[in-house]
Amino acid sequence: MPTRKDRRPVVAGNWKMHKTAAEAQALARELRNALGVVRDQVEVVLAPPFTALYPVGKALEDSNLYLAAQNCHAEAQGAFTGEVSAPMLKDVGCRYVILGHSERRQLFGETDEGVNRKVKAVFAAGLLPIVCVGETLQEREGGRTLEVVSRQLAGGLAGLDAAAAARAVIAYEPVWAIGTGKTATSAQAQEVHAHIRGWVAQAFGKEVAAAVRIQYGGSVKPDNAAELLGQPDVDGALVGGASLKAADFAAIVKAAFA
Ligand code: PGA
Repeated sequence: MPTRKDRRPVVAGNWKMHKTAAEAQALARELRNALGVVRDQVEVVLAPPFTALYPVGKALEDSNLYLAAQNCHAEAQGAFTGEVSAPMLKDVGCRYVILGHSERRQLFGETDEGVNRKVKAVFAAGLLPIVCVGETLQEREGGRTLEVVSRQLAGGLAGLDAAAAARAVIAYEPVWAIGTGKTATSAQAQEVHAHIRGWVAQAFGKEVAAAVRIQYGGSVKPDNAAELLGQPDVDGALVGGASLKAADFAAIVKAAFA
């Protein structure tokens, strides 16, 4: 059975709705310079807004830093004004697409079923999903964390075969920790990560569970990254606010292979 060491940590920066194309390209260049040395031990992924994907992709050419989008539409093309499809993201150089982020679920009405359609579209386009799950404060306080996460996994990953499931990245992001400065303790994170891996073992088998990478997200900062990333089932981080500063994001990436 693969051990933690066989799972290459994946650290992704979710830039959300920040940065013009020029600013994003400058940040990508800065990160590329800062991270050149660590790039093989840790998979580094940058997720700028749609308008900056092309210039950031250019800045990352011939590097081992990967490009990601923050969302996509489930259809490959069609009359869907304002939407962007997975094949379009593939064409512009993406490797990953973040799906089911809690901001998309809470502010844009995304459902587990909708996330599942997008997950399938992403695989069909030759891309990989970063599937976000996580409970609200109310759900945690009601003792429903594991149940909520299981439901989101069952919905979001429905119908995948084992090979696809093993290549998906799962991001555990407690909603109450996103952008709030409140981080889950490493014990809270590890508990949910172990639960997620157990759920994957039940659904797709032990080998898939041993291979699948599970990121933690929610106020990850340089000073808490090493502790969180040191947990046996935490295989990387999905970083929002701190990914907008090159020095902070580089420090988090370095914590992933310490
Ligand atoms: P945060 O965001 O690091 O700013 O809390 C994390 C995320 O939303 O992915």
